[in-house]
Amino acid sequence: MYSSKISGTGHFVPENVVTNHDLSKIMDTSDEWIQERTGIKERRHVVEGDGNTTSTMGVKASKQAIENAGLKVDDIDLIIFATLSPEMYFPGSGVFVQEQLGMTKTVPALDVRNQCSGFLYALSVGDQFIKTGMYKNILVVGTEIQSNSLNLTTEGRDVSVIFGDGAGAAVLTATDEPGKGILSSKLHADGRYTDELCLKKPNITQKPRIYPELLESMDIYPYMNGRFVFKHAVVKFPAVIHEAMEAAGIKPEEVDLVVPHQANLRITEAVSKRLGIGMERFVSNIHKYGNTTAASIAIALSEAYEEGRVKDNDIICLAAFGSGFTWGAMFLRW
Ligand code: ACO
Repeated sequence: MYSSKISGTGHFVPENVVTNHDLSKIMDTSDEWIQERTGIKERRHVVEGDGNTTSTMGVKASKQAIENAGLKVDDIDLIIFATLSPEMYFPGSGVFVQEQLGMTKTVPALDVRNQCSGFLYALSVGDQFIKTGMYKNILVVGTEIQSNSLNLTTEGRDVSVIFGDGAGAAVLTATDEPGKGILSSKLHADGRYTDELCLKKPNITQKPRIYPELLESMDIYPYMNGRFVFKHAVVKFPAVIHEAMEAAGIKPEEVDLVVPHQANLRITEAVSKRLGIGMERFVSNIHKYGNTTAASIAIALSEAYEEGRVKDNDIICLAAFGSGFTWGAMFLRW
């Protein structure tokens, strides 16, 4: 039976840097408040005319991942695309990526809508296709353009200072090397908390879907019950990491690197403490990019690889928690 290894990673972020100081000019906030509460110093926002869309950024990350895997575009058997910010309500963005990559085959494209845990869910789905022998190389993409849907005024400051734009990708490749690749993945969801972190409007099932008053409503911006999310995240992250660690037969001292969803530095620090795995074994780039949701693990993993923090045979943990609530963890031997 095959297992899935990550054979290549890539990432792309828009050029435009928005610092906390920049935000303090357009809303009542401060660098001190944002850094203390979240660890974020700056994030990237797309700008009009820069050509960046959810799929174009995903394509740039994907090309790097495919090249790093030593593959050609037509070696890919399946695209799995995770985002909460697709350029169209339908079709999903996976098909845009397929077209822009210039694939000559009609390989399937699947969209995953699991927000912060989207990339992890996508990897786990890809893993199943490889284990069954159905596909050999799967492109997994996580991309977000958050900045266009944020309320960048004082009214929306609790949410808008946190999120940023970016894209990451990884190629999953079948391997028969014993003990290599994905060792375990555990996924969870709890639909009781849909209202705690969500974007309510426009509601495509509502008639009329769009009406003049909607433009003045806070419902067209993401809503987050920050403290509630925080409390759940610091419990669910360590619990699911323990669960996946046990399933993989790994002990905390054997973990070389944890690449968590970059939700908030305070959440990552709390998880590190609860697991007894020091922050030096965690990847954190939230100070540069903020929370890029479905892209965050993919960008962090790609950067860690480029920085030489991911080596052959290392035990790597990926973990995420977010809207839904949905969450999960995965262990792999690189
Ligand atoms: N700048 C300045 N002041 C602010 C800002 C801001 N950007 N945002 C809120 N405030 C004010 C509030 O109005 C409030 O003022 P008041 O005391 O006069 O009423 C005060 O700061 C405290 O607000 P809280 O919301 O209670 O602040 P808290 O300490 O909880 O921090 C935060 C808010 C950072 C969102 C926190 O709740 C948190 O970290 N939550 C976790 C959620 C998270 O990280 N989500 C990431 C996305 S979800 C995911 O990826 C899992």
